[in-house]
Order: sequence, then C-alpha cells, then structure tokens
Amino acid sequence: MSTKLFTNAQIVNEGTVTHGWVLTDGPIISATGEGQAPDSVKADETIDCRGRYLIPGVIDTHVHFRDPGLTEKADMASESAAAVAGGVTSFIDMPNTRPATVTVADAEDKMKRAAEVSEANYGFFIGAINSNLDELLAADYTRLAGVKLFLGSSTGNMLVDNASTLDKLFSSAPALIAVHAEDEAIIRAAREKLSIEHPEGIPVELHPDVRPREACIAATRTAIDLAERHGAKVHICHISTAEELTLIAEAKARGVKVTAETCPQYLLFDRNDFMRLGSRVKCNPAIKEASDRIALVKALCRGGVIDTIATDHAPHLLAQKEGDALTAASGMPMIQFSLPAMLDMADSDPESEGLDIGQIVELMCHAPARIFGIKGRGFIRPGYAADLVVVEKLPLPGHKVADSDAVSKCGWTPLAGRSLGYAVRLTVVNGGEGPLPLIFEKQ
Ligand code: DOR
Ligand code: ZN
Ligand code: ZN
Repeated sequence: MSTKLFTNAQIVNEGTVTHGWVLTDGPIISATGEGQAPDSVKADETIDCRGRYLIPGVIDTHVHFRDPGLTEKADMASESAAAVAGGVTSFIDMPNTRPATVTVADAEDKMKRAAEVSEANYGFFIGAINSNLDELLAADYTRLAGVKLFLGSSTGNMLVDNASTLDKLFSSAPALIAVHAEDEAIIRAAREKLSIEHPEGIPVELHPDVRPREACIAATRTAIDLAERHGAKVHICHISTAEELTLIAEAKARGVKVTAETCPQYLLFDRNDFMRLGSRVKCNPAIKEASDRIALVKALCRGGVIDTIATDHAPHLLAQKEGDALTAASGMPMIQFSLPAMLDMADSDPESEGLDIGQIVELMCHAPARIFGIKGRGFIRPGYAADLVVVEKLPLPGHKVADSDAVSKCGWTPLAGRSLGYAVRLTVVNGGEGPLPLIFEKQ
C-alpha cells in the first residue's frame, strides 16, 4: 500500500476553506493539517495542489448506469469511468435496469458486476413494485442504500400504485425510501388532452405540459403524507418545482423525516431551453419554468430545504432521444460535468448570490454521506476513506464543453456548447487502492 501527500491545497471541508495538506495511507486519510506539511510527513508520492481546491469525492446518490440489460446505452464500466472523470468517487445506482433490481439476488448480481468493473465505489437501491414487499423487508440495508419507489412511471415502468402496498412499505421498511414523485393519473390526463390537441404528435417542447407541475406537487404531497403517517424516512428525488420546495419546508418544520434532492438539469435549464436543445433536455420530471429554476437556485442559497444535489444520470443513445414529447427517451447523462457545472453555477449564475464552493461540497459530498448513512466517506477526516478530488478554477472563459468530451458510452452531453469555469484535475478513490462497496449505517 502506498502513501500520498497532497500539499499546498485549498481544502474545502465542513464549511471551511483552509490552506493545508492531506496525507493518505493506503485507502485511508491518515492525517491533515494547516499550512505547510512538516518535514516529518513523508509519502511515496507528493501531489502539489498549488492554486487548486482539494475536496472530498462527490457521492452521487442517483444514477442509472443501465447495467444489466440496457448496456447499449451505458454500462457499469463506462459510466463509473465518467463518474471518476467528473470527481465522483461513489455512486448509488437505481433499480430500473433489465432485469429490474427487485430482489436481494438481483442486487447481489449488480454488486458482483460492480466489483469486477467499477472505477468508483458503488451502492444500489432495491426497487419497490406492487408485489415484492417480502424482499424489501428481508434485505440487508447495511449493504443496500434503501428502497427506490416510483410514484409515477418513467423509464422501466416500476410504478407502485396500490395504496395498501404503499402503507405497508412506509410502515415497515427499515430503510430510507427514495421517491420519484410524479402522479400517474395527472400525467395520463394531461397526455390524453395534449394528444387530442396534437394529432400529428406532441412537440417535445411541450414535455413540461405532458408531465405537468401538478403531477410533481401531488406526488410529493403523497410521499410526505405517507412518511408523516408512518414515521418513515423519505428522500424526494429530483425536485423540479417551486411548490415542492414549500411542501418540503413545511414538512420539515412539522418534524417529518423528509430530505430533498435536486439535480443540475433543474438548476441550469428551464423550458425555454427545449427550443435550443430539443429532446436533449427531456427528462422526467420535466424541466419546468424559468421561475422554478430561479426558486431552486435561491433555495440552495438560503439552505435548509434542498439537502443534496445528485445527477439522475440517465444516459440514452442520441438515436433513442429522437422523436416527440411521447416517443423520445427521457433522461440525460450528467455525472461527468455535475461538479464543474455546479461550481460554475455558484460563481456565475446571477441568482446564486452567496452560494459558494463550501455549500456545493455540503450538497454533493457531505449531505449524501450523512443522509444515506454512508460509513466513513464524504468528509476529509483522519480515519475516513481517501476519496479525494483536485479541482481547478479556470481562467476565463473556462472550458467549452463538447460532445467529444463525454466519457459516457452514449457520447453526448446536454452541456455541449456551455463554458464551465472549473475542471477536475485528479480523482483518487480509496487512496488509489481501488473501489469498494459502500457500507450503510442502519437507518
Ligand atoms: O428522465 C428520466 N430518466 N427519469 C427517470 O425517472 C428515469 C430515467 C431513466 O432511467 O431513463
Ligand atoms: Zn426519477
Ligand atoms: Zn432517476
């Protein structure tokens, strides 16, 4: 096992930025300090971080790596490589693969595959369906991140719509329940109405009307209500509307065990971007109004409502993205550029007053570790895993992203054409000793 010394770094950790050094010993951080490392601190390799930030590795708790079964789009090897290229050292993968991850054995298969090919630390959700409550209750939630629940069907159609199943799940699951919150009945009604109005096909820019904000608001209300009635711990994925922010703030004030995630796409784009980017920005939930985007950014600045930024990295081939609002695949790759894009947003978005790198590290590194109970990761602390990322703030005009930069198998990015003011220079997973399965504290 080797030792590494990161020197002259701007260390961003737990709300402070300090000039200092970090020493790793094998997979673990062994010491940290301010200023110059004393001469007594020796290492096999020294990494001079002068002029650069050193942050804990990003933990992306919401990815769709498509493996097994959808590997024409992406696979565990390709997407974990994209993760590492973007400073993401740990990921939690969603269950809408083929087969869907709805039994403990399915999850074990994914872990085996990840152990063979992943470049980043890995964890998995087990998915809820109307008929697998026994599996969900029997699962070992020190090895699994929690239960993923689709309250609304999206890619993979894993909808749970049986009220008594939902009650049983929320009253008995010994795990965090992560929810895709969109109301199926509201979406169906909107789809039918728009299909009549557009017999030639619904233009893709009407996607936010096919999956309207009311669907998100209603389902988030349902998820909060279930958590409140049963005392369950619920994590609302990919918040996309201003109203959901209010619902979550109110629920938190009442003591409901609710946490909330948003994603770079809801912070960087609004529905006007469909005219420029077409189905590249089609995802579920849909990207909403400019006012929603601003409300989400302002909520990050204020703090307290949105807990995490995850990517919902959902690669599809560009050929599968062709079509109209009903036929083009929903989802976009995001993992590789999420950290630079969020740091860039903090600096350059006129709405992001007060947002700084420390808060981005809280949202993308610390809070995911805390909320999901990820053991020994997410912070730069002696004894913690040496998951470390060196980031550089670039001189203006930054780096203009192109599809050809994409490491993801699908070979494109919705950020193509956008200039980002930051670049990831080095990502170290477990001190360079290789990826490990995530271990979760019991919820
Ligand atoms: O846009 C989306 N894509 N939303 C989801 O909920 C699923 C995801 C996917 O797997 O493609
Ligand atoms: Zn989702
Ligand atoms: Zn998702």
